[in-house]
Amino acid sequence: MSILPILEVPHPILRKKAKRVRSNTKKELTLAYDMVDTMREAGGVGLAANQVGELWRIIVLQMPDEEESRIYFNPAIIKTSGSREVEEGCLSLPGYRGIINRSVWIKFQGLDHTNHVVKFEAENLLSQALEHEVDHLNGILYSDHLTEHRNLYTVTQEDEGLAEQDVKSAEIPTSLKID
Ligand code: NI
Repeated sequence: MSILPILEVPHPILRKKAKRVRSNTKKELTLAYDMVDTMREAGGVGLAANQVGELWRIIVLQMPDEEESRIYFNPAIIKTSGSREVEEGCLSLPGYRGIINRSVWIKFQGLDHTNHVVKFEAENLLSQALEHEVDHLNGILYSDHLTEHRNLYTVTQEDEGLAEQDVKSAEIPTSLKID
């Protein structure tokens, strides 16, 4: 088990599409468990393999109300419905949060750490986190979903993780600007 360095914007690997995992053998599982350690250490809700420099379709999640972390190989959002405004942050974009739209409901499929295909419906934070992490595997960051520049703002270290905290509008780095 080890803590891996988390890549930050504008690292090019964050913009690459990750490859499907053929099987989750020891090598893939070790990476997944290292990602779990890394996510927990950073206090994140989720982490995708691109963020630790590995272009494999692997994501890990830690829901605040769950004891165990979730590990999914080849995760896929197979159905979505509705649209809602959410506040989002990302470990690869520290110091920022943004307001974007995510689905209200999703149907998800993936391979779990025991090599079983799992299929379930999700809402709320779980669906938001799954959409965020699957986006990462396709080279997409949440800032790509911003509809207006003012919907991205800076947060101080203490505010991080706190939703709708006294946030200030900020200069947006060029790499984050939306076309
Ligand atoms: Ni992220």
